[in-house]
Amino acid sequence: MPLPKAELHLHIEGTLEPELAFELAARNGVPLPYATTDDLREAYRFQDLQSFLNLYYELMAVLRTERDFEELADAYLARAAAQGVRHAEIFFDPQAHLSRGVAMGTVVEGLWRALGRSEERHGVSTRLILCFLRDESAESALHTLRAAEPYLDRITGVGLDSAEVGHPPAKFREVYEAAAALGLRRVAHAGEEGPPEYITEALDVLGIERIDHGLRCVEDPALVERLVRDRVPLTLCPLSNVRLRTVDTLADHPLPAMLEAGLLCTVNSDDPAYFGGYAGDNFDAVHEALGLGQERLRELARNSFLAAFLEDDEERRKRYLAEVEAYEFGA
Ligand code: ADE
Ligand code: ZN
Repeated sequence: MPLPKAELHLHIEGTLEPELAFELAARNGVPLPYATTDDLREAYRFQDLQSFLNLYYELMAVLRTERDFEELADAYLARAAAQGVRHAEIFFDPQAHLSRGVAMGTVVEGLWRALGRSEERHGVSTRLILCFLRDESAESALHTLRAAEPYLDRITGVGLDSAEVGHPPAKFREVYEAAAALGLRRVAHAGEEGPPEYITEALDVLGIERIDHGLRCVEDPALVERLVRDRVPLTLCPLSNVRLRTVDTLADHPLPAMLEAGLLCTVNSDDPAYFGGYAGDNFDAVHEALGLGQERLRELARNSFLAAFLEDDEERRKRYLAEVEAYEFGA
């Protein structure tokens, strides 16, 4: 039995496995510039975040109907459950679909068909987080939030993703204020490729409650001190960092030092179809490459539930935390 955990940094479009991409391409009559799934996998050699994003957006063209989004999410939930995920907070990128003529309702209702049945089918509770693309305009983000208003009963929070460098958080002050006024929780990618100043700005200007990645905080000791003091969770994605060359090798990842410093770190998969592993694979990888022992792994699992947006269901959080404490490694 795998260690119970929450996954808090997961782009649903990044769970599109080559086999499903080909199946949806055939079903929807969408041409793909790859002859086979092996050809497509050959393209998974990334130099940086942008080279990944190019493929990520290209492949999304196969997602067209509610059924497509449902199958995508259901496949992820099945895989996540098999790796011990008990709670998943799932990002989606509506602008990447709206721009292709796929309606907000198609995306949200499709995802919801899977999320709404996830507990009974997979034993995984879920939350949905709408991400704005930071390389699009602030106006487009506001428009996207307005388009999502009919579906807010299904959406827990907002996030900020896509190409980071050159797109500092402050650009999105207004849309984050609007999201807060609607009662939405706030997260943002910061300090993945961008500098530590973007993390500070996301906290100060956007009022974010959790930092996605946040890796580069280690370059600023005063920021680390603040994050420790304020117990701000970081959703780290070790295999993603290796594939996007944010770190040279997994053995160079600062996760052990970050835990040692007292940061509230969690381990997540980001875009598992592209980066070589789901949540449990990331836990296994940091165990093997970084020598994190059982109590550190338990701490990471505990942190994931502490950092989850479960304030509306504290009983559930308590149950999950009890599962983590009772877990016997190797049993
Ligand atoms: N969109 C999907 N994955 C992402 C990542 N790792 N960073 C920024 N935007 C993303
Ligand atoms: Zn991400």
